[in-house]
Amino acid sequence: MVSASSLVAAFYKQFPGAPAPAVYRAPGRVNLIGEHTDYSFGFVLPIALELACFTAAAPADGGMLRAFSVNLGQAREIAVADLAEARPARDWSDYVFGVAQQLVRAGYPVAGCNMLIHSTVPTGGGLSSSAALEVSTALALLDGGAIDKLELAKLCQRAEREFVGMPCGIMDQYISVFGRRGAAVKIDCRSLECEYAVLPEGVEIVAVNTMVKHELGSSAYRERVRECGEAVGVVQRHRREVTSLRDVGRAELDVWRSEMDPVVFRRAAHVTSEDERVEAFMEASRRGDRAEMGRLFVASHRSLQHDYQVSCEELDFLVDTAIGVPGVYGARMTGGGFGGCTVNLVEQEALAGFETSVGAAYRDRYGITPQFYRSKPAAGASRIG
Ligand code: GLA
Repeated sequence: MVSASSLVAAFYKQFPGAPAPAVYRAPGRVNLIGEHTDYSFGFVLPIALELACFTAAAPADGGMLRAFSVNLGQAREIAVADLAEARPARDWSDYVFGVAQQLVRAGYPVAGCNMLIHSTVPTGGGLSSSAALEVSTALALLDGGAIDKLELAKLCQRAEREFVGMPCGIMDQYISVFGRRGAAVKIDCRSLECEYAVLPEGVEIVAVNTMVKHELGSSAYRERVRECGEAVGVVQRHRREVTSLRDVGRAELDVWRSEMDPVVFRRAAHVTSEDERVEAFMEASRRGDRAEMGRLFVASHRSLQHDYQVSCEELDFLVDTAIGVPGVYGARMTGGGFGGCTVNLVEQEALAGFETSVGAAYRDRYGITPQFYRSKPAAGASRIG
C-alpha cells in the first residue's frame, strides 16, 4: 500500500527543502466488457481499481518541471517555457510532459513544480497504468486549480493521442476520473455520459496477468483503428449519416458484407457485436443472471481472439484454463490485448481454488507465475493528502 504520508516522506528525500506537497491518486482500471469499442464511440464497462498512480507535488522556483519515478528510480525535467514545443522522449515522462503540454495549450497556468510519482498499477499489464499516470500528474500540475472532470479526462486522452502518438479511445482516462467505489461504469463513448452499475452479490472480479507484453500491440492498435474507419467508409456509401461503427448494428453489417474486405468485415463484426454484448451484460447483471454474464465474457473473448485478432497465446491459455475451473462464470482478455491481463468472473467460494489451479497450469506451461488481482470497484481520481 502506498500512503499519502509515505509519499510525502519520499518527496522530501528527493526534493530537500521543497514546500509541503499535495498528494493525488488516480486509479488504473479493468474493463469488464466492451473491448476495442471506445474509439468507434461505442460502449464500455470498466471498473476503477485500488491499484493507482500516486503523485506528490509542490511548486518550485526556476520554471522547471521535475518528475521523479519511484518505480524506476529515474528523474526527468523540462523547462515550462519549452513545453509548447516539446517532443516525446519515448519513455514514461511522455505521459507527464504530454499532459503538461496539453494543459498549456488549453490555457491552464502551468508553473515550475517538483513531482514524485509512485504507481502500483503494473506497467504493460493492460490495467491502464498510462492513464493513471496522466490523470494523477494532471491533477498535480493543476495544483488544486479547478477543472471540469470530463475536460480532465479529454485532456489526458489528447496527451496520449497527440504527444505519445497512441490513437486511443476515452475509456481509460474517463474511468480513472469517474470511477466509483462499488460500481462498474457503463460509458457511452459518444455522448460521454455514464451509468453506474452494481454487480450481483457473490461475483468476484479477478484480473490475471500473463506477465507478457508482445511488441505487436501498438502497431496492431493503429491498424485496427484504420480498419474500423474502412468499414465505416463502406457503410457510408449507403447511409451517409453513419460516422462510426457505433451507428451500425451487427445484423445490418451483413447487408454490406459483400462490399467489404473480409478482414475489415471481421473487425467490424467484433465491434458491432461487442457493443450489443455490453447492453446484454448490463441486463444479465440486473437480473442477477451470473451464467449469462459469464457466457457473454467468453463470447467477447472469442470475438477478440478470432475476429478482432488482438489476443495472444498466453491470454487464450488463461481464458481456456479458467473456464474449465468450477465456480468460474466466465473469462476474457481485457484492455488492448497482445498480453496483459484477463478478467474473470468467479464465485466467491471458488476464489482460492481458481488462483491455485490457474496459477499452477500457467506455471507448468510457460514457466511464469501469473499475478492475480482481486478487484473491487474503487473510487476515481482525487487529492488524498
Ligand atoms: C487501450 C486503449 C483504450 C481501449 C482499449 C481496448 O487500453 O487505451 O482506449 O481502446 O485499449 O478496449
